[in-house]
Amino acid sequence: MSNKNISHVSIIMDGNGRWATQRNMPRVHGHREGIKSINKIVSACSVRQISQLTLFAFSSENWKRPEYEVQFLLKLFEDSIIKYINDLHSNNVKIKFIGNLDIFGKKLLDSIRNAEKITMNNTGLKLNFALNYGGKWDIINAFNKILDDNNSSLQNKKINIDDFEKYLSLEGDSPDLLIRTAGEQRLSNFMLWQHAYTELYFTDCLWPDFDEKELDVAIQHYQNITRKYGSLTSENSIDKKNVK
Ligand code: IPE
Ligand code: IPE
Ligand code: MG
Repeated sequence: MSNKNISHVSIIMDGNGRWATQRNMPRVHGHREGIKSINKIVSACSVRQISQLTLFAFSSENWKRPEYEVQFLLKLFEDSIIKYINDLHSNNVKIKFIGNLDIFGKKLLDSIRNAEKITMNNTGLKLNFALNYGGKWDIINAFNKILDDNNSSLQNKKINIDDFEKYLSLEGDSPDLLIRTAGEQRLSNFMLWQHAYTELYFTDCLWPDFDEKELDVAIQHYQNITRKYGSLTSENSIDKKNVK
């Protein structure tokens, strides 16, 4: 399958709880199963030469869940980072975490920083995990970083979109394709700025059932779309970074 036009894919990995409930299992079993899908899709993206994959793993709203589920998820992230970091590193994957990470406990934070440090010079797939992430938080955080940066040339100046984007997560880098599993058709506060012109693909498939074949269906959907960015011509003649 050709995928010359697709460089950045983002995924709202939804439906773990329903997957487990359908099997009369506790919801958290679905989260554990969801890790297997992450492994499959990370490898599949590398093989398909997609350069960047951004996964929504825990939202700034997910703290509203029962304490047991929240604690289970945080421990699962911690354990999974430690378990898979060597494999990811040997596959040349470069890992980054985005979100309000400072509030996490030392163990999780150490595993996050360690994963980023070990893989920082890797040149393969850029793999971003959004943890305690909210799109509104991202925008306000960028704004506050500008206010706090006394050395910035932006102080006391009107700022433009290009200036502002540098302070956002992923420096405002836009996914080409957003996939959301499990049927809901909403952003749930995921990268509000970065998804401004992203193509959206929704599937009823629950995240633990999502695999390479499902990914290829999503990519095929993307490849059938003409991206015009408000113009009358296709993307080939347009600089997509030029979305204001
Ligand atoms: C997504 O699955 C995982 C997280 C939000 C952490 P859910 O846990 O939201 O699964 P459903 O939507 O309840 O089925
Ligand atoms: C979005 O899923 C967050 C993640 C996948 C991490 P949710 O299940 O939390 O979203 P809502 O509640 O359906 O909007
Ligand atoms: Mg959900």
